[in-house]
Amino acid sequence: MDKENKVIFQFLAEPTDVNFGGKVHGGAVMKWIDQVSFACASNWSASYCVTVYVGGIKFHKPIQIGDLVKIEAKVIFTGKTSMHIMVDVMSKNIIKDLDYTKTTHCIIVFVAVNNDGEPTHVPQLIPSTDHDKKLWDYAQKLMLLRKDIEEEMAPFKNR
Ligand SMILES: CC(C)(COP(=O)(O)OP(=O)(O)OC[C@H]1O[C@@H](n2cnc3c(N)ncnc32)[C@H](O)[C@@H]1OP(=O)(O)O)[C@@H](O)C(=O)NCCC(=O)NCCS
Repeated sequence: MDKENKVIFQFLAEPTDVNFGGKVHGGAVMKWIDQVSFACASNWSASYCVTVYVGGIKFHKPIQIGDLVKIEAKVIFTGKTSMHIMVDVMSKNIIKDLDYTKTTHCIIVFVAVNNDGEPTHVPQLIPSTDHDKKLWDYAQKLMLLRKDIEEEMAPFKNR
């Protein structure tokens, strides 16, 4: 059986996830993103993994308490020790809506680590479909853009 590069979580947004405006807290969404992508990275690498980077989070639409939330995390690029994971968060009113609405999209990078917390090799992803090849290119383009962003941020990071 092929290695699974995708993990999906589905659950109801609970009253305890509320923010001060009565909708789901952005921090709760970020926690879910971290959990789903951790499961995805660990499942792919069969190793303990840590988050090294989260990028491009945009909250397009609010999630209502009681909505059915669906989060898909997919390994789209692998380096030597890192896995670039694309995460899509969707939600719908379970009674009124037929379709999900995309609420958040981001890329999160995990590194597989050994018992000493040092980066360790991960199985390589070989993109086979046209869509997966596009996602691989997308991850590479973002890596290049990140270099410029990190250069811009460098003078302010360690102040
Ligand atoms: C993750 C960690 C082990 C990496 O250690 P490091 O000394 O930076 O290791 P390296 O420089 O060899 O980088 C390891 C990989 O991370 C990638 N990486 C490092 N910084 C990155 C960044 N800003 N964005 C994307 N990838 C990054 C490298 O490209 C490398 O990938 P590759 O092996 O596939 O080429 C270390 O930074 C760490 O422990 N960070 C804290 C993690 C943490 O606490 N996360 C939050 C809780 S889980």
